[in-house]
Amino acid sequence: MNYGDDFQRLSRYNRDKLGGRSLDWAAKPGQYKTYPPELERFELEKPDRNGGGPLYSLLQHRRSERNYKTAAVSAAGLSQVLWSAQGVTLRTEHHQFRTAPSAGGLFPIETYCIINNVEGFKPGVYHYQVPIHALVLVKEGNFGLELARAALGQKMLRDASFNLVWSAVIERSKWKYEQRAYRYIYLDAGHIAQNAALAAVACGLGSCQVGAFFDDEVDKIIGADGEREFSIYMTSVGVTH
Ligand SMILES: Cc1cc2nc3c(=O)[nH]c(=O)nc-3n(C[C@H](O)[C@H](O)[C@H](O)COP(=O)(O)O)c2cc1C
Repeated sequence: MNYGDDFQRLSRYNRDKLGGRSLDWAAKPGQYKTYPPELERFELEKPDRNGGGPLYSLLQHRRSERNYKTAAVSAAGLSQVLWSAQGVTLRTEHHQFRTAPSAGGLFPIETYCIINNVEGFKPGVYHYQVPIHALVLVKEGNFGLELARAALGQKMLRDASFNLVWSAVIERSKWKYEQRAYRYIYLDAGHIAQNAALAAVACGLGSCQVGAFFDDEVDKIIGADGEREFSIYMTSVGVTH
């Protein structure tokens, strides 16, 4: 079976096939994931939007770091990495734009934060609420070991201070791009994860991107159904020195 080849071939744009499909605006999927109001919500520290290290130096110093001390990261560090990955940077009448680009401005990627050791936060699975820069506690408990097992036994996910799981809500992108949406979600996630990695360097933290994992197991940890929403990428963040 050559699923990858099929995916690449079937999602090609061809001049003779790209007909003028009009978009059904009434059926446009919502851009944000919400949770019942009774779940605990944690405001994140106000992000620093102007400081941080110079870009070229951050690029020079970013490296995939896999050996973390089991130490706590500050709440400010967590806030800074989340905002850099997906924070809102521009609000217009009908739209909100973020730190990372997104195909068609459709923002199909959700961010979950699996906290192992962050000052002021209990360990658990949290969801990042983009428009209000806050975390909702979805499940309390230490899921670091379970996440490491789901990631083919990569221990850095257990030792990390927190891990970010990026999932795709595919309908948001399919609404416009149909099958080609599958190409774009991975590009969106790449931009987001790189922002997180550079922010980690700016905060004096180490990070590593993670693509090797058992999909079903990670989906279960974040509470995704694996079809309408599925995990596609992760980033571990921790203390290295
Ligand atoms: C899509 C993708 C998936 C990756 N998956 C893993 C992974 O599962 N485990 C890991 O240790 N590193 C993973 N990495 C990190 C790469 O091994 C690393 O980026 C590469 O060796 C280059 O090193 P550098 O990041 O320090 O420049 C991944 C990187 C990318 C871009």
